[in-house]
Amino acid sequence: MPKHPLVSRRRALLLGLGTLASMGTLGMGRSKYLSYQIEALDDPKRDFTAVGEASLKERAAAKGLIYGAAMRYPALLSDAKLANCFVRECGILVPEWGLKWYVPGVPLRPNPDKFDFTEADWMAQFAKTNSLLYRGHTLVWHESLPPWFKDTVNSQNAEQVLVKHIKTVAGRYAGKMHSWDVVNEAIATYEKRQDNLRKTPWLELLGPNYIDTAFRVAAETDPKALLVYNDFGLEYDTPEDEAKRTAVLKLLERLKSKGTPVQALGIQAHLLGGETRFNSKKLREFFSNVASMGLKILITELDVTDKNLPKNTAVRDRIVAASLEDYLAVALDEPAVIAVLTWGLSDRVTWLSDFQSRSDGAAVRPLPMDADLKPKLAWNAIARALDSAPKR
Ligand code: G3I
Repeated sequence: MPKHPLVSRRRALLLGLGTLASMGTLGMGRSKYLSYQIEALDDPKRDFTAVGEASLKERAAAKGLIYGAAMRYPALLSDAKLANCFVRECGILVPEWGLKWYVPGVPLRPNPDKFDFTEADWMAQFAKTNSLLYRGHTLVWHESLPPWFKDTVNSQNAEQVLVKHIKTVAGRYAGKMHSWDVVNEAIATYEKRQDNLRKTPWLELLGPNYIDTAFRVAAETDPKALLVYNDFGLEYDTPEDEAKRTAVLKLLERLKSKGTPVQALGIQAHLLGGETRFNSKKLREFFSNVASMGLKILITELDVTDKNLPKNTAVRDRIVAASLEDYLAVALDEPAVIAVLTWGLSDRVTWLSDFQSRSDGAAVRPLPMDADLKPKLAWNAIARALDSAPKR
């Protein structure tokens, strides 16, 4: 396991700074203290040189890995430069919206009796035309449910609604899908359930077995697709993330013990720029524990929230790049990790602009390519991590 020297040096620096600052925090506001702490994360001397001209797709393939990204149908349809950049850099495409039950625009499930595959089919064709793998996100989730769901689905028909959705949607792309996020974000330790399951409409309507049902129907419908359980908040050395890692491992063990066909864990990896509680040893142990169950691992939604970072883009880009490279150095050391996808490719199109915007109004910078499709240090960080990864 590569002990990233910088992580230990940086933590020592922060520990010292933290002690110093804690003596002075009485006189300074918390935000001042935090900004000192975050500034200390920036190492202007850190080398982010990426050797050669190869794309991220090519660097990943050279190690038997896959790199790709999520993309939105309207963006790919209308932005040829972005589409070309995507095809150059990515080996796999996942629709950010098109295979969810309902996102405003061209929803997959406009009403209980209708499936509208316009978006998902166009994206599938784009992938095929450009020799990209295609992955599905997500068959069962508590968010992005259609407006009609709560008035239509009840404990009598819920299983039939769920099975029909999976059979219809996974069936349409059977044999063409690299992998499916079959169930997304089913764990919420704050709910204090013994099984740590999130209180979703699916849990309330069908009980905990909704997860098993979803995986079994998906496996019957598309035996070729890798079936993934996908979740977030698994990254840091915080009580919440530690509890969630433990709960996710227990869920996977439960599913495996029942013969439920879960084949991989999707780790979303929405990293937090400025978060200093990163413990590479604990994180590596988690990856090993998942792999020891015979599961593959995909990094499914990698990006870095930069809302708490300094406005200065040189500093911000270095901290974002360091977060990415430190995280991927641990993740890619685990041979069970088969793919890395960022949640978007360019700062031009990212959920973080809407959901985690900066209080100073500056555009967010979470992804490998900037808004002008130029590679940033984040691109270098991913390239370096792929180049350093053990070959699969
Ligand atoms: O564009 C419409 C707008 O016209 C309309 O007025 C408005 C009304 O709510 O909705 C707008 O669409 C929103 C869309 O993002 C574009 O901003 C949807 O409401 C909103 O639900 C949608 O959010 C997406 C979210 O998942 C829910 O589906 C994000 O784009 C997407 O990046 C996010 O992705 C999730 C993954 O699926 C799971 N992991 C976490 C990740 C980030 O939240």
